[in-house]
Amino acid sequence: MNVQESTPPLQSEVVLPDVAATEAWAQRFAAGLKPGMLVLLKGELGAGKTTLVRAVLRALGVEGNIKSPTYPVLETYNVSSLYLYHFDFYRIKSHSELEDAGFRECFGGSGLCFVEWPEKAGEWLPAADVTLELRTTEGEGRKLTMTAGSLLGRQCLERISIA
Ligand SMILES: Nc1ncnc2c1ncn2[C@@H]1O[C@H](COP(=O)(O)OP(=O)(O)O)[C@@H](O)[C@H]1O
Ligand SMILES: [Mg+2]
Repeated sequence: MNVQESTPPLQSEVVLPDVAATEAWAQRFAAGLKPGMLVLLKGELGAGKTTLVRAVLRALGVEGNIKSPTYPVLETYNVSSLYLYHFDFYRIKSHSELEDAGFRECFGGSGLCFVEWPEKAGEWLPAADVTLELRTTEGEGRKLTMTAGSLLGRQCLERISIA
């Protein structure tokens, strides 16, 4: 067997021309997510991080209004027995804020975590399974760069590339 062919790429890129494309991508991504995974979302304000997480949460079965967690920092959802944590660390200034809020217990368990602005948490966060970076393109769309940080992350991204 050719090892190179069987090993999924560590990093890949896709252009999402509109929100509908983000939603279609999110459907495929969500299908490969497993409990306990940590997904980081990087990119400037307005890059489309919340739009993407909202689409993933929807694909995972979240119903009703899905708000941006920018003000509360965390929005929690529960689908069947799975906890989904959507963080936005934009307003975070120090690690002690994260500790004091009790966020540590959301990570490393069976919950599925999405974190916008992970840069604000620096070393405080555990290693990510998948890092997604969004950038605006010359047109209306977004360029999405996907990076796997673990075997689970690789398997998840591999599913998308062959779907
Ligand atoms: N793939 C896309 N193509 C075009 N516009 C997009 C795309 N994804 C998101 N947007 C638009 O970008 C704007 C900002 O998105 P948002 O998800 O709030 O950004 P962020 O959370 O990164 O600050 C929204 O108006 C949204 O409709
Ligand atoms: Mg946002």
